[in-house]
Amino acid sequence: MTAKVISICNLKGGVGKTTIVMALAEYLAGDTMYGKRVLVIDLDPQCNLTNILMSEDVWFSQFERNKLTLPYLFKQPKDFLSHIKNEDFIAKQDISNIKAKFQSLHLIPSSPMLFEIQEELPEGFYYNLGLKPIDLLKEVINSLSKKYDYVLIDCPPTINKTIKSAFLASNFCILPCTPNRMSIGGLRLILRHIKKFNNENGHNLTSLGTLISRFNVSRANENQLVELIMTSSEFPSIFRTKIAERAQLAKNLDFGEKLTYKQKYGDLYDSLKDFAQEVIQRVK
Ligand SMILES: Nc1ncnc2c1ncn2[C@@H]1O[C@H](COP(=O)(O)OP(=O)(O)OP(=O)(O)O)[C@@H](O)[C@H]1O
Ligand SMILES: [Mg+2]
Repeated sequence: MTAKVISICNLKGGVGKTTIVMALAEYLAGDTMYGKRVLVIDLDPQCNLTNILMSEDVWFSQFERNKLTLPYLFKQPKDFLSHIKNEDFIAKQDISNIKAKFQSLHLIPSSPMLFEIQEELPEGFYYNLGLKPIDLLKEVINSLSKKYDYVLIDCPPTINKTIKSAFLASNFCILPCTPNRMSIGGLRLILRHIKKFNNENGHNLTSLGTLISRFNVSRANENQLVELIMTSSEFPSIFRTKIAERAQLAKNLDFGEKLTYKQKYGDLYDSLKDFAQEVIQRVK
């Protein structure tokens, strides 16, 4: 079995991409939940996923200092790829603050260096390497794909060569969207770019669906916008489960304290569990 590779994207910031990647990974990998082998990849130079899933000290001493965070895949691909055999760029211990056993929950951490490095990528092939920037993530994932059931990629709200490397490496995407006009605009844009990318590269990145996230029934016109997303053929079918807006969630992201699923996610516990189940069904 090779891993199902899923990019989580929307070109609007703040719609909940990172939060969804974190929760989906924790639910899929939990031994008492679905018991899958999960690798998450932080492709965003903001490093929010890295921040909430691992200790800053480990990030610095084992990964960033040794040039083993994701930006170095793009800056020094030959050196970085030489670590594939030993998987030195994968954080495997103590990923997540959930108090549970995981089948495997691993992370390829990012670094703010990616802001700079992504601006300096070659147009064509790297010198002495038959690969272009957009090929690199696929190269890494292909070499690992028998070891995981799911690879989840947290994408930045930008179109550049690094997000295109995620498109090329992925079979599927999930599109979180908050019911407001800007997020819907970001959804439209990402769909247009994915279509263009598929055409230009003979690729078939398939949408698993639109996920309504940070849904707040008491906010004016959210129901109408959900209706618009549901009924317009321009958007991929929405997941049955919607993720509600819950201010409490942000408080439980601190890496220090270990929490149970119910403590961490409160009344989002069931919807996140259902969402993970829907993802498992939709990728079949
Ligand atoms: N369901 C939710 N309820 C309340 N707050 C949420 C929810 N989901 C995410 N948030 C909060 O909203 C903010 C943005 O979420 P998140 O970082 O997941 O979005 P993002 O789409 O990854 O943003 P970016 O595009 O900047 O990477 C965070 O502070 C997060 O804690
Ligand atoms: Mg994010």
